[in-house]
Amino acid sequence: MTDSPVDPTSTDAWDRLTTLAEAFAPDLRAWFEADPERVDRMTHTAADLHVDLSKNLADDDVVAALLALAGEVRLTERRDAMLRGDHINVTEDRAVLHTALRLPRDATLQVDGQDVVADVHEVLDRVYAFAGDVRSGAWTGVTGEQIATVVNIGIGGSDLGPVMAYEALAPYADGPECRFISNIDPTDAARTLEGLDPATTLFIVSSKTFGTLETLTNARLCKAWLLDGLRSSGAIGGDDDSSSGAVAKHFVAVSTALDKVAAFGIDPANAFGFWDWVGGRYSMDSAIGTSLVVAVGPERFDEMLAGMHAMDEHFRASDLAQNVPALMGLLNVWYTNFLGAQTHAVLPYAQLLHRFPAYLQQLTMESNGKSVRWDGSPVTTDTGEVFWGEPGTNGQHAFYQLIHQGTRLIPADFIAVAEPAYPLKDAHDGQSTDVHGLFLANFFAQTKALAFGKTADEVRAEGTPEAVVPARVFEGNRPTTSIMAPALTPSVLGQLIALYEHITFTQGVVWGIDSFDQWGVELGKQLAQQVAPAVAGDAEALAEQDPSTRSLISYYLEHRS
Ligand code: F6P
Repeated sequence: MTDSPVDPTSTDAWDRLTTLAEAFAPDLRAWFEADPERVDRMTHTAADLHVDLSKNLADDDVVAALLALAGEVRLTERRDAMLRGDHINVTEDRAVLHTALRLPRDATLQVDGQDVVADVHEVLDRVYAFAGDVRSGAWTGVTGEQIATVVNIGIGGSDLGPVMAYEALAPYADGPECRFISNIDPTDAARTLEGLDPATTLFIVSSKTFGTLETLTNARLCKAWLLDGLRSSGAIGGDDDSSSGAVAKHFVAVSTALDKVAAFGIDPANAFGFWDWVGGRYSMDSAIGTSLVVAVGPERFDEMLAGMHAMDEHFRASDLAQNVPALMGLLNVWYTNFLGAQTHAVLPYAQLLHRFPAYLQQLTMESNGKSVRWDGSPVTTDTGEVFWGEPGTNGQHAFYQLIHQGTRLIPADFIAVAEPAYPLKDAHDGQSTDVHGLFLANFFAQTKALAFGKTADEVRAEGTPEAVVPARVFEGNRPTTSIMAPALTPSVLGQLIALYEHITFTQGVVWGIDSFDQWGVELGKQLAQQVAPAVAGDAEALAEQDPSTRSLISYYLEHRS
């Protein structure tokens, strides 16, 4: 299904939403008072997630118009096309099948003449066997010692997902320690390798294309570090034969380009593949998650996949009026295109999710930061809001001021789990306080304050001097979605990831864009190659640069040692 996108602004629903927005006077206090059913009507369950949409700036008319918009832009048809493997990534002529990565073993899905489920499970089995060997100590380094540390080398989708999940599932980690190198700033490799013993370190080079400058450069740095270290400890000799033996024991790769893996010197037997129908930012549940499997084990990884599948099923099978990813995506459209929001905060009240906002930045912004539609025509409306966030309560003491009292509308997703990973008690003055309860009190208080604010009369009633009253008024009507789950299990993490994948998809369909390509990162990559000779001191290349770039490079050349 690669037909032309529907121009959302040409739909009846868009006209209706425009009219509603013109007369819109949200009043969450009044809405809640007048409508005792609001919270029940707007709270939905998606797998294990309890999602309260009631503090959003939307009444029944807005929700109805958004659902009508979804119908007019054919959201469900596009969703079904994605799930069955149509080439909806039009600019790259590819299927978009990250959902197939978590289909159960007994499912089948024929795409382009191939049963992709069988392929997925064949690779998963190899990853699980490898990870099992590393975890048990059956896989040893060249000296015969067990692997103590696994270092994933990758960037973007080949890094952010594994890092985020490794942090989120830290309480489940019972395998070797994992570290991650992504940035081509040599500081990253230098600091990450600090304190490691080459004899007990295993590198996973993760790159969908195996052509990414950062990753290949870091892989070479790590190879040199490994061989130098092994040579200087006498573990290997200086000859090529013992070097290649060491590389085979200390380097594995994950990629769709297995020929390039072999060319790099990694034994194809130690390479795990995936497919062009998995986008980089949608790949953490493919073999790109190998480091995570080593850390938490195949069983936990399977639980995460099952959680993702449960959310996929919710997105596939639920009526749109109860479909959480669809509703959240449509609300984002409402805020972006009708109420003027430009950013969207994601605020996890779970320290273990501290890398979740960074992960979502690639997922959402690389997917939906587009100015043309999938048929090449210009978009007809704004796309792709800026996603950002930090875990609560740190954010409260940093940027919440602007969310509460600033002039900008910032829809925010609050995420919390009931069961703490670490149930610590604070004992003082003869009392014992559950610290996680205190933490969640902040979660509940913040969404309440943002929604209902504090009126001037309420501020005055506290005895506040009149001159200071305006500064202490909270307007309220700041929209939030509250997402809660019983605990941050591997399954719940998987559900959260898939939830945001489908929110992103929903918005992309409304805007008519291909959420699965990323041409916008190419120009910078090309120019980096073109500028590199000038940076290395080539006078001719320097002269070819524009005046500002020339001046900046000259500054660098003058100041480096
Ligand atoms: O930033 C562009 C990008 O292509 C991302 O989409 C991708 O996740 C990242 O680079 C890394 O690419 P690769 O996995 O091919 O090294």
